[in-house]
Amino acid sequence: MKPELFIRRIEDSDREWARKVLRDSWESSKIVTRGVIHETDQLPGFIALLDDLYVGLLFYDVKDGMLEIISLNVLEQRRGIGSSLIQSAIQEARSLKCLRIWVITTNDNIPAIEFYQANGFKIAAIHKDALIESRKLKPEIPLIGIDGVTIKDEIELEKKLDG
Ligand SMILES: CC(C)(COP(=O)(O)OP(=O)(O)OC[C@H]1O[C@@H](n2cnc3c(N)ncnc32)[C@H](O)[C@@H]1OP(=O)(O)O)[C@@H](O)C(=O)NCCC(=O)NCCS
Repeated sequence: MKPELFIRRIEDSDREWARKVLRDSWESSKIVTRGVIHETDQLPGFIALLDDLYVGLLFYDVKDGMLEIISLNVLEQRRGIGSSLIQSAIQEARSLKCLRIWVITTNDNIPAIEFYQANGFKIAAIHKDALIESRKLKPEIPLIGIDGVTIKDEIELEKKLDG
């Protein structure tokens, strides 16, 4: 039988697993976007389960009528899990009357940029050399990212929800 994907809100009992995923992917639970440190493991979010196995998680923060995706990680790629988590975040943003959902990724993360665009996001801004400031807040951010590309710039993607 085909395994069933289930998305639900993150609960406190999930947070230890979530912290490990955050550490493995981003060196720690601390994530810096636009010069702000997020203690990501404390934030609200969604968990994806395939049958009973954890396969993805998304954390978000809501401020000024906008929902920011702070982190998104999928353990089994190209099975629609990331898109399902994004749909839950969009639903949450709509129910909170947010007019915009946005996310920061980095210039090396072309797969994520393609993924967000496939999910209806558009590039809203390129913050050149933003990582210089980010590394002052989180020195462990690596210099080199995906495919050996130097991580320098923040890429801001957005989806407007006013329609
Ligand atoms: C980016 C990420 C969340 C995508 O999740 P996913 O579950 O694999 O994505 P989906 O299966 O929902 O993909 C939907 C569509 O996005 C696009 N896409 C997804 N991954 C892609 C990739 N690696 N390269 C190019 N396009 C991609 C495709 O159009 C895809 O549709 P298709 O598979 O029918 O071609 C996942 O690869 C991941 O966890 N990456 C590591 C962490 C990360 O970079 N997070 C984002 C920054 S916050």
